[in-house]
Amino acid sequence: MNVVNTAQPDLRFTSEVQSKTAHFYEKVKNVIPEVEWPVFAPLIDRINTLKKQKNAVILGHNYMTPEIFHCVADMTGDSLALARSATKTTADIIVMAGVHFMAETAKLLNPSKKVLIPNIQAGCSLAESVTATDVRALKAQYPGVPVVTYVNTSADVKAESDICCTSGNAVEIVNGLGVSRVIMLPDEFLALNTAKLVKPEVITYKGRCIVHEQYTPSDILNMRETNPGVVVLAHPECSPEVVAVSDYSGSTAGMIDYVAKHRPAKVVLVTECSMSDNVAADFPDLEFVKPCNLCPFMKKIELSNILAALETEQTEVHIDPAIAGRARISVERMLNGWRPGQP
Ligand code: 13P
Ligand code: SF4
Repeated sequence: MNVVNTAQPDLRFTSEVQSKTAHFYEKVKNVIPEVEWPVFAPLIDRINTLKKQKNAVILGHNYMTPEIFHCVADMTGDSLALARSATKTTADIIVMAGVHFMAETAKLLNPSKKVLIPNIQAGCSLAESVTATDVRALKAQYPGVPVVTYVNTSADVKAESDICCTSGNAVEIVNGLGVSRVIMLPDEFLALNTAKLVKPEVITYKGRCIVHEQYTPSDILNMRETNPGVVVLAHPECSPEVVAVSDYSGSTAGMIDYVAKHRPAKVVLVTECSMSDNVAADFPDLEFVKPCNLCPFMKKIELSNILAALETEQTEVHIDPAIAGRARISVERMLNGWRPGQP
């Protein structure tokens, strides 16, 4: 079959492209309709060729669409796994198939590498909810109380913080500080959910994720009524009330691990909707109930702008060195372990 993309004459679905990408289609065939493949396959083939030519690597968050997640990303995972992967790569160029704060984190950990974000508008409502000035005001209000900052923040905010955390390690980070009180920002729900599981008192902030705050306990009860026996896994950016009526709460990687370990016959991932497609591709024998709350920021990343990023080596992430030095400390403390009083 020869399907011609008239806008980009070199992106034709030739029989060569079809055979080179057949193994990818095999992987995603239960989540990508066959009719869409002739559009994706030439882009996938071109991206994978260019990656090799330029010694580039693509880091893909669990919320990427399946044609990105399964077909062009070299390393995938939650934001903690992507940060760890960023410390290990020997590539010259890192393309972040995720949102801007993830690209900034990769840059902090790889100051000499070229880190690209395919669409500069891939932001995050949590990252936008707090500024460095807000953090300074909180520190003035609670002198000496350590600030634990979710990685879903700008480098400016990280630079004002003592240590970072992700949804995958928040409990461990807060308990590991060995203090009686912490400030946790910006996600109010992550902080409230963490507070239930840790020893220190947690001072919260008012940030929210626009995707997860939409879920309500009655949504979960409806899912259970219409899907008897369904196992409900919720991200800790959901409200504590939603977490309370779920069977498990964990980071995106935590949810995948749960599915792999327990193999529930019917499961719902209460989070961004592409993730269910990505996990369903790996577990075709399980039934995924798919409520769909899209993250408009994550969805700014597409195969076409990943290709453009590789071709043009734009948009490069730069961080003011005066900020980067302090922000890097917060991220490295998270990755390496740290207690107040230590350097
Ligand atoms: P994870 O660290 O669990 O992947 O979460 C990142 C995120 O943006 C969730 O909305
Ligand atoms: Fe930010 Fe929420 Fe989108 Fe994650 S899902 S990137 S927290 S807006």
